[in-house]
Amino acid sequence: MKTVTFTAPVNIAVVKYWGKRDDKLILPLNSSLSATLDQDVMCAKTTVACSKEFKESSLWLNGKREDINSTRIQNVIKTIKKLALEKNPSNEIISWNVEIRSCNNFPTAAGLASSAAGFACLVSALANLYEIEGDLSEIARQGSGSACRSVLGGWVAWDKGTNSKDSIARQIADENHWPDMRVLIIVVNAGHKSTTSTGGMARSVETSRLLELRAKEIVPDMMRKMEKAILQKNFDEFAELTMRDSNQLHAICLDTYPPISYMNDTSRFIQYVVHSINDFHQTNKVAYTFDAGPNACLYLLEENAQLVTSLLCKSFQIGAEVFRGNEIPKLNENIDSLLM
Ligand code: ADP
Ligand code: DP6
Ligand code: CO
Repeated sequence: MKTVTFTAPVNIAVVKYWGKRDDKLILPLNSSLSATLDQDVMCAKTTVACSKEFKESSLWLNGKREDINSTRIQNVIKTIKKLALEKNPSNEIISWNVEIRSCNNFPTAAGLASSAAGFACLVSALANLYEIEGDLSEIARQGSGSACRSVLGGWVAWDKGTNSKDSIARQIADENHWPDMRVLIIVVNAGHKSTTSTGGMARSVETSRLLELRAKEIVPDMMRKMEKAILQKNFDEFAELTMRDSNQLHAICLDTYPPISYMNDTSRFIQYVVHSINDFHQTNKVAYTFDAGPNACLYLLEENAQLVTSLLCKSFQIGAEVFRGNEIPKLNENIDSLLM
């Protein structure tokens, strides 16, 4: 028996991937950009084992048995085994059955990039098991699009490319580039979303005209601006671009027919509080971004972490009830007193 255990981090996109031009190879309609988070807080952990004794192959996710014959899992396993055979045709372990056990230490299928961490982790573990070297981004992408960005650290672009070989991740800046950048994750609902990312984006591709416009006209310009803001460490610009891009994703979800609502009232309350904080300070102190789920990811600098977290906590205490009644509290005027 041979066993390998790996961990892999999530990545949170600031220019979102939404829509495929090729469902099988997972080629995106648009390029995207994300930061890969440190894996000491949120990660997938996967153990892969293979043995001559295993009667069948199996997959376990968070302790529950899942279908190992799903297309994406099989695509990943087959691609890696093919490379392993090319490298060493006499490696007998390639023909043995595999057992895959994976756990996420954060909510799965809740819009916090579990598919990204999960498939990046699976691909790394299998590559290590069969002793494959080289770029794993292309293989991870065929498990889940966003996973191709989690194989690299720091700030990572996924160029839409022209084919399977060049539609891969590229590091634009490493993990030490912006050392005071922080990400605050607010879990609004840890449950599984009712529309998966795969299903949601497929429906958007079929029905949303706005998505066509976004992919063709808006994202290329957005990618240039975002890359520049990150390289220049211009937080004010980075924050505005990030929030606009997130809002555009959710606008497209509403333009999808039938529409999809990933954000809920609590997500919108967080969005509102973030704008109140930024308006009051007349500069962006914090940026929200929401993936396909209600949970908030906030980008902020270390120097503002204390300010932002206390304002958010206080806002929740005083505001959430009022907001639910649709009477939006005037946080702009009160924001200073919130800190007292
Ligand atoms: P998320 O927003 O969390 O990425 P998705 O809808 O994109 O949600 O994907 C969720 C799916 O990703 C899960 O139902 C499962 O099939 C797969 N997945 C999540 N975590 C893992 C993991 N650790 N290993 C393998 N597959 C995983
Ligand atoms: C909103 O990568 O989960 O998180 O390729 O179908 O597995 P599949 O979808 P997935 O989609 C991620 C969508 C997103 C934006 C992003 O991470 O770029
Ligand atoms: Co996902």
